Amino acid sequence: MFCYQSSIILVVILLWKIDAECPLTISINPCSCVTHVPTVTHQASDNYRNTSIYKRSIVCEKLTNNDIINVQTKFMNLVLTSMEDRHFDALVLRNTTWKEIPSNIFGNLTFLRIQFEHNQYLSTIHPDTFRNTNEYVKHFETLNTNLSELIFSTILNQFINLIDITMLNDSIKTIPSYAFRQRKLERLWLGMGYGLTGKQPLKSIAPYAFYYLPKLYFLQIATDYLIELHKYSFALETFGESMFTFEMDFAGNGWSSNSFPLMSLTQCRSRQVFMIHQI
Ligand SMILES: *[C@@H]1O[C@H](CO)[C@@H](O)[C@H](O)[C@H]1NC(C)=O
Ligand SMILES: *[C@@H]1O[C@H](CO)[C@@H](O)[C@H](O)[C@H]1NC(C)=O
Ligand SMILES: *[C@@H]1O[C@H](CO)[C@@H](O)[C@H](O)[C@H]1NC(C)=O
Ligand SMILES: *[C@@H]1O[C@H](CO)[C@@H](O)[C@H](O)[C@H]1NC(C)=O
Ligand SMILES: *[C@@H]1O[C@H](CO)[C@@H](O)[C@H](O)[C@H]1NC(C)=O
Repeated sequence: MFCYQSSIILVVILLWKIDAECPLTISINPCSCVTHVPTVTHQASDNYRNTSIYKRSIVCEKLTNNDIINVQTKFMNLVLTSMEDRHFDALVLRNTTWKEIPSNIFGNLTFLRIQFEHNQYLSTIHPDTFRNTNEYVKHFETLNTNLSELIFSTILNQFINLIDITMLNDSIKTIPSYAFRQRKLERLWLGMGYGLTGKQPLKSIAPYAFYYLPKLYFLQIATDYLIELHKYSFALETFGESMFTFEMDFAGNGWSSNSFPLMSLTQCRSRQVFMIHQI
């Protein structure tokens, strides 16, 4: 009798411990909570160092526009009192038909990584959507979306602590001047490289596009439509201490020796530029 009771207590304690890692399924359904999600960058580039913690992530998968209200209601009602409980490694939105991510849909949750995969119609993100997690996001990754260059000013520049940005197979046509202002950003992947099928329509990079990225040391640009850069496309703000190597990796069919105007690569200030050109 005693033995029976204590094993029940043990089972209850074990269940409680498992649930403490992830919120109850019913409280976040139709999204779910998982322990590990592979990054987009890892799928698209061998030049990727694994920095995530992979403890628990929120995955919202195969959702339609009819699920939006439900997701919003679930996350708004989720009671997670401590900051630790509210913090997740990644938010993954995968294979949805969503056109827009509405305001504040993920409640008070905070994320280290925001990852959108195969959301072909996704064109806009409300500027308030990630208000609560702005300072926490360090990795932003998208694959197969309809996001355009508007994302830089509306969303990305709110994430002041970003270290990596990966945007593959989307609708970005140009990188505007001063597009990025993340002073901690180290690596930037734009477009599918390495012979993978890509539809990146990127066809121009404005002068000073990367000007305010003092820590950038890796840049991949993969597109078939970019023929020629501007002399100041890669001009960077002066930083006495940035003596590290700057690797630029270009892929696509449009590149030629004429793509790089005279002096365009001397605009990287004191950094040594290391270029790889693949077709
Ligand atoms: C990344 O690191 C986590 C935790 O150390 C590990 O579980 C995961 O398998 C790693 N992923 C890759 C792709 O190396
Ligand atoms: C978010 O946190 C604030 C303050 O901690 C609280 O007032 C608010 O109700 C929370 N909102 C949600 C959606 O959890
Ligand atoms: C999501 O979409 C991609 C591309 O269409 C497909 O390859 C993949 O199998 C889908 N994943 C799921 C879980 O449906
Ligand atoms: C992508 O967005 C553009 C507007 O920016 C729109 O015209 C087009 O229909 C969208 N495509 C898809 C597949 O949603
Ligand atoms: C990129 O988009 C194209 C066209 O939509 C598609 O055929 C291709 O499979 C996509 N690439 C990946 C890696 O998903």
